[in-house]
Amino acid sequence: MPLLLPARDNAAVQFGVRSLAITVTIVTPLLVIFAWFNMVLRLGLPPSLQVFAGPVLMAFLVSLVIAGLNTLNFVRLHATEQAKLRELNETQIEVILTLSEVAESRCGETGAHIKRVAEYCRLLAQLAGLGEDEVFLLKTAAPLHDLGKIGTPDHILLKPGKLTPEEYVVMQEHAEIGYRILADSTKPILKMAAVIARNHHEKWDGSGYPQRLRGEDIPLPGRIVAIADVLDALGTERIYKKAWSREQIRDFFQQQAGLHFDPRLTGLLLDHFERFEAIRKQYEA
Ligand SMILES: [Fe+2]
Ligand SMILES: [Fe+2]
Repeated sequence: MPLLLPARDNAAVQFGVRSLAITVTIVTPLLVIFAWFNMVLRLGLPPSLQVFAGPVLMAFLVSLVIAGLNTLNFVRLHATEQAKLRELNETQIEVILTLSEVAESRCGETGAHIKRVAEYCRLLAQLAGLGEDEVFLLKTAAPLHDLGKIGTPDHILLKPGKLTPEEYVVMQEHAEIGYRILADSTKPILKMAAVIARNHHEKWDGSGYPQRLRGEDIPLPGRIVAIADVLDALGTERIYKKAWSREQIRDFFQQQAGLHFDPRLTGLLLDHFERFEAIRKQYEA
């Protein structure tokens, strides 16, 4: 068992080696110091034993050097692990964005739409006072809000005219489909995405879908994404409509506060409207 920590790839082996190395490099000097004082106090360090002083001191110094080298090695390994974790996180986020773009592209939405929705959600969640971790989860999961549209038939999703009542029912199912795809995950981002997928079409007055939840019974992430998604739909040009003006959008949200949207969140949107407009300009398609 080498005293110097080897750089290994296997995390379990690394952990074992580290624990043992820490124990050896910390406990050894303590034992040496204890033995040294014990010898001096009890035996008064007679001249015949002074010959041990040099080797004992040397052992102590060698232990210190080993501890120092191991510490350096731990720091280096920690930095490598952090870099791997960062890479993994970035990959996760990219996979989520790609999956979201696939779902959104089926109904003509662009990648810019989901980036704007994610940024609107981040800002609104921050303004609502959510913690840093919740804001991150919400922003990362929001692009998956329409994942369930991968289960909506093309003739309904791409129909140019108005949907029949029957077709509208099928269209509404995307909320539950998205939820079912994501709900079994134990990962926080996907759990958050499941909540968003299911609740982003609920309305404050209980007239939304799929569960017709009302007021604060609608999970907060769903209420936030509802505002962000509609804000983006109104503020950008689509094949069938021009982008609404600033005043039209503000009037719409004022009218819908307490009907479609959470009135407190709508107030925050209107109070900080120019910050949302800045996001739209930044992520213009
Ligand atoms: Fe939707
Ligand atoms: Fe959307």
